[in-house]
Amino acid sequence: MKFVVTAGPTREPIDPVRFISNRSSGKMGYAIAEAALNAGHDVTLISGPSMISPPEKARMVHVVTSDDLYDSVHRAVRGCDVLVMCAAVSDYKPATTRKRKLPKQHTTFSLKLKPTRDILASLAKTPRKYLVVGFAAETQNLQTNARKKLFSKGCDLIVANDVSRKNSGMESDQNAVTILFRNGEIKKISRTSKKIIARELLKIILKMLEKCLTKKSW
Ligand code: CTP
Repeated sequence: MKFVVTAGPTREPIDPVRFISNRSSGKMGYAIAEAALNAGHDVTLISGPSMISPPEKARMVHVVTSDDLYDSVHRAVRGCDVLVMCAAVSDYKPATTRKRKLPKQHTTFSLKLKPTRDILASLAKTPRKYLVVGFAAETQNLQTNARKKLFSKGCDLIVANDVSRKNSGMESDQNAVTILFRNGEIKKISRTSKKIIARELLKIILKMLEKCLTKKSW
């Protein structure tokens, strides 16, 4: 099977030395890519800036901004079987990027931001022949918010994690996730290593793909 996995944060430049970003390490996405590679699948890993060494055998695409990621995802999904959208995409970017370093201000000042494009939602606008796995980073009302994203972004399943906890989620080697399906089914994986979660998730994805292929619903 052909997997496209996105991982890590995006960086939205303010000027040549400053940017807006988030705490994502890329660990979850890299673990999913690794699990799929170990199971013999073909993997394109599209990664924002991350300290992790690229998995051997992955086709690596390095991106920086949400716009780079948008273009790379739209290119990579042609002919893929699964997209796992694990990247923590910045929701805003500076309205303008300065060519020169912004001098230090001695008073409070405002930075004008504009929304970035929603990559997952953009993919739902055209017919497609691949499975889409979204992620939902939540600090409250985890299931309600994740369910909304599952439908509004046209995912086949969504993996929700509580990013307010210190011992799991962003930056941690561990995670605890709730997986929501469109038919209302829910699966929970309690706190364990991201590598184990990746392997469990892979099993779920492959089972779903098998079902879709036998039903020929695509
Ligand atoms: N996502 C995306 N494009 C964006 C923002 C998010 O494709 N511009 C994807 C993420 O990769 C993830 C899913 O949408 O798979 C949900 O991301 P999340 O950060 O949980 O939600 P947001 O849509 O950003 O909404 P909010 O920040 O309000 O929770």
